[in-house]
Amino acid sequence: MKQGMSSEVSPLASELLKMDSKELPSGLTMHSDYVPPANPIPFSRYYDPAFARLEYEKLWKKSWQYACRVEDLPNIGDRMPYDVGAELSYFIVRSGANEFRAFNNACLHRGNRLVSAQVSGSSIRCSFHAWEWNPDGSLKNVPSSWDFPGVDADKYRLPEAKLEVWEGFIFINPDPDAAPLSSQMGLLPEAFKDRGHGDRFTFAHVSKKIRANWKILQEAFMESYHVVETHSDALPFSGDASTKYDIWPSENGDISRLITPLAIPSPHLGDKASTQVAVDGLAQLFAMAMGLEPPKIDASKGNARAQLAAWRRETMGQALGRDFSERCDSEMVDTTQFFMFPNFFPWFGEGLPLIYQFLPYGDNPNESVMNVRLTSPLPGNGVCPPPVKINYLDFDDFFSDKAPEFGLAAHIFDQDLSNLGNIQLGLRPAHSAHSKNTLGRYQEQRIQHFHNLLSKTLGLE
Ligand code: FES
Ligand SMILES: [Fe+2]
Repeated sequence: MKQGMSSEVSPLASELLKMDSKELPSGLTMHSDYVPPANPIPFSRYYDPAFARLEYEKLWKKSWQYACRVEDLPNIGDRMPYDVGAELSYFIVRSGANEFRAFNNACLHRGNRLVSAQVSGSSIRCSFHAWEWNPDGSLKNVPSSWDFPGVDADKYRLPEAKLEVWEGFIFINPDPDAAPLSSQMGLLPEAFKDRGHGDRFTFAHVSKKIRANWKILQEAFMESYHVVETHSDALPFSGDASTKYDIWPSENGDISRLITPLAIPSPHLGDKASTQVAVDGLAQLFAMAMGLEPPKIDASKGNARAQLAAWRRETMGQALGRDFSERCDSEMVDTTQFFMFPNFFPWFGEGLPLIYQFLPYGDNPNESVMNVRLTSPLPGNGVCPPPVKINYLDFDDFFSDKAPEFGLAAHIFDQDLSNLGNIQLGLRPAHSAHSKNTLGRYQEQRIQHFHNLLSKTLGLE
């Protein structure tokens, strides 16, 4: 199978990796030849309430899912909600110096939602009649306890979901019989060996409502095939069609990755596109994000990407008081994204250091939530800055207006999201002869694989 498209000035990502001026970390040396079987994906998966119900029962109630990060909850008693549609609600609380727990987010008295925002405080107190629990889930106080003879501390502990922490990510699983998180992570620990998110922190965090099914939303971020149309202004410096896609199935869960190289022109621009324009375009964006003057890079002197990476190592090193000298060019420049089923997207490297999480919203399968973070390596002194507040964006809000903290990424997200409502609107009226996805065999393979896993999980094979 042809694995991408290249031009004289726009090599494939796999070729660029070979030209890197440094040793590559395992997250970039890994390669897979796996090709997922092609199974047509019916559009009804994206709007049928019965399908959404099946997902709640067999996917969300049974899977390990990333809920939040440890730096969101720095002090004992800090807590925040984790919702999957209207069906599942938990809150995560720091219950000890290095201990977290996930509790059902409903009061044991009359069901009131206990936690609706990121809050602090040494006890979890219901806003209705003030029943109160300790951060470890034990019952602390029931006002007028003389009136509740059957309520004793043993029976009225908050019900708990399984919880595990990996590299600062807090995962929960509602299934009490679930196997450990490692049974679902596949090669992810191998990929992030030496480059873990454990020494990173979140510095921008948006939660945005979207009028499209959570899978439509998620799939919009799993391929770079859409760049040529949706982000055409990025073509001068994005190797969209040079992207490398890989999928690693394993007994302990499957993961996938995309590497879209930057600082090269899109292969769509042809053999004569300018490498100088490509590197200058990206350098300007990086410089803007850091409030610096862009570096002077001379592409005629060879490996322009390596020159830009060297500038990034130096400027990021100065800004954070850390040593980036071991980091390879690709890590400093490209956009590399991993995926773990069902909805966890940790990015790799400093090119675009994001974390995505896509979830159903409310009771409507035609709506969803995009939770996205920008992360940074911790400063050299190891001190994590105070947690950033979640910026909640409504359906009609734009990132560019309401989330300037995302810099240029805000503009990119607005471009991505501009399609989603229309995709959802097109699915149901689609002609019956074409009411299934037609996926690119290489560039859209991760979407195919995701649906193959989903079918398996839902018992639809
Ligand atoms: S519903 Fe929570 S105390 Fe009454
Ligand atoms: Fe995009």
